[in-house]
Amino acid sequence: MDDAWSLGGLDGGLPEELPASPMAMLRAWFDEGLRAKATPNPDAMVLATAGEGGPSARVVLCRGMSVEDGYLVFYTNYESRKGRECEASGRAAAVFHWDHAERQARVEGVVVRSPAEESDAYFQRRPLLSRLGAWASEQSRPMTSRAALLERTREVMERFGITPMHLLGEGGEVEIPRPPCWGGFRLWATSVELWVGGDGRLHDRAVWRREVGDPPRGGGSWESVRLFP
Ligand SMILES: Cc1cc2nc3c(=O)[nH]c(=O)nc-3n(C[C@H](O)[C@H](O)[C@H](O)COP(=O)(O)O)c2cc1C
Repeated sequence: MDDAWSLGGLDGGLPEELPASPMAMLRAWFDEGLRAKATPNPDAMVLATAGEGGPSARVVLCRGMSVEDGYLVFYTNYESRKGRECEASGRAAAVFHWDHAERQARVEGVVVRSPAEESDAYFQRRPLLSRLGAWASEQSRPMTSRAALLERTREVMERFGITPMHLLGEGGEVEIPRPPCWGGFRLWATSVELWVGGDGRLHDRAVWRREVGDPPRGGGSWESVRLFP
């Protein structure tokens, strides 16, 4: 081939032979994003849901990932807009963008609540103020004023015997139960698309698809295909 037309240096960023599952690569990209610290929230992903009002999207933090079973974990208020839409439709989609690495990962799938014990354990690891906030905030509901949130937070502190000293880390250990309306969701991937930016918009892109069953579980095999970018 004439040198001028050679695509030397424009090899794709994904392996020529796609792996049987995308999950190890997704995990590696995620971990690399955490290590790179290129943004303050490297575990952030945009979560899309759909409801009667149409589709909606917002940022949440990806707080867990099972490579073996193929699901992501995020935490939220089950009564929030996203929470209600996840439960009503049973479907959600998420997208990560690691700009510094020219990588994007899209995950679509079936969403179900995490086991209660897992949410309990995660809740207890959260900073004290975040635990109080989970009780105080009726996420996505109208609020009369900012003062209403602070007043609710004060009431929650009183209810659980939390003093300002506790907030300063000087009042000893406190255990606050997880609010029933707050916890994790597992997004079981039925589709994962990995995208690597390339010169001249000749990006490299592949999608893996599988069935997860109802209730969802891992173990099924993935089918993969490269896509035009
Ligand atoms: C960097 C970042 C991380 C966030 N992480 C979460 C999260 O993990 N869980 C959550 O419920 N909201 C999180 N939020 C707030 C959501 O984006 C959103 O405002 C909120 O959950 C209400 O969404 P909804 O009304 O669509 O349910 C985060 C926002 C930002 C900017």
